[in-house]
Amino acid sequence: MKAIFCPRYGSPAVLESRSIDRPIPSETEILIQTVATSVTTGDTRVRALRMPKGFGLIGRLALGISKPRQQILGSELSGVVVSIGKSVTNFEVGDEVILYTGTKLGCHSEYKAVSQDAAMIKKPASMTFEEAAALAASGTTALAFLRKGEVKAGDKVLIIGAAGGVGSAAVMLAKQAGAEVTAVCSARNLEFVRSLGADLILDYIKDDFTQNGVTYDAILDAAGVLSYAQARTALEAKGRLLLVSASLPQILQAAFATIARGHRVVSGPAAWTRGDLEFLKTCVESGAYRVPVERTYPIEQIADAHAFVEAGGKRGNIVVSFARRP
Ligand SMILES: NC(=O)c1ccc[n+]([C@@H]2O[C@H](COP(=O)([O-])OP(=O)(O)OC[C@H]3O[C@@H](n4cnc5c(N)ncnc54)[C@H](OP(=O)(O)O)[C@@H]3O)[C@@H](O)[C@H]2O)c1
Repeated sequence: MKAIFCPRYGSPAVLESRSIDRPIPSETEILIQTVATSVTTGDTRVRALRMPKGFGLIGRLALGISKPRQQILGSELSGVVVSIGKSVTNFEVGDEVILYTGTKLGCHSEYKAVSQDAAMIKKPASMTFEEAAALAASGTTALAFLRKGEVKAGDKVLIIGAAGGVGSAAVMLAKQAGAEVTAVCSARNLEFVRSLGADLILDYIKDDFTQNGVTYDAILDAAGVLSYAQARTALEAKGRLLLVSASLPQILQAAFATIARGHRVVSGPAAWTRGDLEFLKTCVESGAYRVPVERTYPIEQIADAHAFVEAGGKRGNIVVSFARRP
């Protein structure tokens, strides 16, 4: 079977397609044939060892000192169950599934063997495999930050980076929770962000939300551009600042500054459960949530997908697909 390896840190050119043995599932494992998988900003960060400022050493310790410890990247996939171990009870051969491995990665692979207890759900029938391949990473990240920020019905929420993977998911999930959503994006993405359901949209080149006197119960920054000093005037008393992609100085500055002001800062890695995937599935089935996919590349062009994601400004999510379908 084919798998994409990242044997060292570097540009997209370091990625190598290799033929390796297909895994054999143990008694409690499930073998999935991958149809599609995503290339996330996280994948490009691991490949290039490009961490937010202040996290360089932590990143190297976590990912591998001189080369990636996990050389097959990819945190999510969609596919079909092609065999199951003797003790597996919750999935059957032929099931169409979505798997999220998160920081364990390993999804840029034609076949994947996983425990029956992995974060895996049956794919909603209404989704294509390409959409399903990008349901988990962006969706669970947005969900984790909105939940930690206690975003609820009636809250006024500002979302920065609203056209990206995490930002687009956050717009739809905050709306689903009953919040009033103001989305911040570039001019070319105004219509796209409107289609996600945002109530108000600001173009970050023209509109400075820190100067217009409007305040929010929560501000989610998925673009990693906001300092606490900028956010302060736009936060309500007891407002929450949700920093999805912050540098260490940004986090420390915000943590100290908020002590005196009653604001709360949420940052760090997003946690998820299989229940979160089930929740996203119900949102898809009810029509409250969809997965925007800007481009799908064949697996042979995965380096181009990395380069496109790394250039910044992707709209929603980027997917790569395997030619051989089960
Ligand atoms: N904490 C966690 O657990 C976790 C998990 C997943 C991802 N992340 C991080 O979250 C970040 C976002 O990921 P993503 O996949 O959503 O990335 P993405 O799709 O590239 O989205 C980033 C968005 O930022 C916008 N942007 C760029 N400059 C901006 C500015 N000055 N003001 C406002 N918006 C601006 C871009 O929109 P325009 O094209 O409209 O400019 C782009 O759509 C990444 O850094 C990723 O590493 C963190």
